[in-house]
Amino acid sequence: VLIQPNADVGCALGARIIAKLVREKPDCVLGLATGRTPLQLYTELIRLHRNDGLDFSRVTTFNLDEYVGLPAAHDQSYRWFMRENLFRHINIDPQRTHVPDGTAADLHAECRDYEKRIRDAGGIDLQLLGLGRNGHIGFNEPTGSLRGRTWIKILSEQTLRDNSAVFGDFSRMPRHAISMGVGTIMDARRLLLLAFGPAKCRAVSAMVEGPLSAICPASMLQWHERATVVLDEASSAGL
Ligand code: GLP
Repeated sequence: VLIQPNADVGCALGARIIAKLVREKPDCVLGLATGRTPLQLYTELIRLHRNDGLDFSRVTTFNLDEYVGLPAAHDQSYRWFMRENLFRHINIDPQRTHVPDGTAADLHAECRDYEKRIRDAGGIDLQLLGLGRNGHIGFNEPTGSLRGRTWIKILSEQTLRDNSAVFGDFSRMPRHAISMGVGTIMDARRLLLLAFGPAKCRAVSAMVEGPLSAICPASMLQWHERATVVLDEASSAGL
């Protein structure tokens, strides 16, 4: 658990960890996350690409999740988020960037295929994670399976409230998402979770110091062999 003075410093640290991996293993497989938390980390990766020649040409990525029903062209889809905030600014091969397809005709087949694509790529070297205010990781909500694989998840009331603002009104917010399961996330060889700000304080305490419990899916990080948690003063205040 690394407590940094603020989110900017935390994101810069996270970017350095990822950049080191990309330099050591140019064909690494990165698991990526969306949300406000990693935005500054992505900005820093773009800067390292532009200024220090950080090379993404052989990197493969798998995103954690995607809303069901949102096409890639929807500005709230996670595919759109990744393109706008990272992919189009670096030299990554679009064919190597994977985000679940929330518009697939057969969503269950898409989930199984996503797991297969991760396996075929050799598994995830490092999975980046944010933290929901309710302790979720990806879209693995409280009380869900701690061994689950990529599947269709029902969003909790709290998540609907937290994420609906950007959809204009609550009724336009998707109710389901495809998400890697906690089991998928735990298979990554390394985890890097970022959580900043006072709103994450309770979830951080439950994740780091609480019991291993489906009530806080992020508490499973305690069970991982190589998990790094980057916090700021505010999110770590309850520890
Ligand atoms: C979303 C995402 C998570 C993300 C979390 C926190 O619902 N599915 O992957 O980590 O909520 O979001 P934010 O970083 O905006 O606080």
